Amino acid sequence: EKGGYPSFMEKEINDQPAAVGDTLLGRADAAGRLTLDEIRIDPELLKNVNKIIVLACGTSAYAGQVAKYAIEHWVRIPTEVELSHEFRYRDPIVDANTLIVSISQSGETMDTLMAVRYAKEQGAKTLAICNTNGSTIPRESDAVLYTHAGPEIAVASTKAFLAQITAAYLLGLYLAQLRGIKFQGEIRDILSDLGAIPAKIQSVLDNADQIKKLAREMAETKSVLFLGRHVGFPVAMEGALKLKELAYIHAEGFAAGELKHGPIALIEEGQPVFVVVPSPRGRHSLHSKVVSNIQEIRARGANTIVIAEQGDEAVKAYAEHVFYIPETPTLLAPLLATVPLQIFACELATAKGYDVDQPRNLAKSVTVE
Ligand code: M6R
Repeated sequence: EKGGYPSFMEKEINDQPAAVGDTLLGRADAAGRLTLDEIRIDPELLKNVNKIIVLACGTSAYAGQVAKYAIEHWVRIPTEVELSHEFRYRDPIVDANTLIVSISQSGETMDTLMAVRYAKEQGAKTLAICNTNGSTIPRESDAVLYTHAGPEIAVASTKAFLAQITAAYLLGLYLAQLRGIKFQGEIRDILSDLGAIPAKIQSVLDNADQIKKLAREMAETKSVLFLGRHVGFPVAMEGALKLKELAYIHAEGFAAGELKHGPIALIEEGQPVFVVVPSPRGRHSLHSKVVSNIQEIRARGANTIVIAEQGDEAVKAYAEHVFYIPETPTLLAPLLATVPLQIFACELATAKGYDVDQPRNLAKSVTVE
């Protein structure tokens, strides 16, 4: 059942091309129009939505944070992402024009379920992005958009994360289509870029030897930092979470722009820092800003490990190690950049002799508050 892999986690990392592909399957017609018939919320109601709140915990919340960048850019509806357990206890402002999007692999996370119930009581519309058919959160929600990642057995979430980002993007494009914001041609182009993602994930998987080797060499490391910017920020957070969960190593993710506001004080000789670098083709010259961050930390002794886009030569001069991912539009890059970080954590934990499927102290679904 592990498909020849030594662990479920390795199998699930390798299942990711299919998890994304299957989540995209059958959700658009030949003309590139999204056909999310399963969203049973009246399209007129959806047109009136003036605020989206994404509720989730852990890795699923990072998927929400990635999706926020895309949804606000495509749909122009203010989108907040909040940890379910914080949302419920802070008197949030929610009404009939609020769309609550919960994200949960299991559909049973108690904190998220309670937050959804609370929002419903306040009159919000609720939509669940979920990987488990018939689980509690989708049953209690007005609508559901299933991720088709297949069962995720390993406690650490991998393929569900990529499928959640994919589903949330489909939702964003659907809302844009409904509201007539994006031209159909543009939506079709984004869908076609999404359609190319599974093969690109496969190429990252096929080239995993280099990152695995580094992971084994770093088995004795005590602390690893992760930096990212824009959609790379939640990717950095996710990379750090995987390392904590699996390898019990102290790991922190930071927004790269935040470095000089504090975290740079942590940098000393030999400190390993992963940096998720935006595409040099992206908007806002974020690439050069992150490259400057790499220079700054390297000058202070950091051991820089860079995830960059194929063809990005500028990073080479400042990186101890560079891992290249295929070219893709900026908003889709998390679907590729996360994969080496998952592989790194899995391989390092395996090298330390830990059980990657069942890390200590953790449960696959957290059904208590
Ligand atoms: O089933 P859910 O998506 O609601 O679970 C949320 C978190 O408990 C989960 O993502 C957790 O953080 C994982 N252990 C991450 O690898």
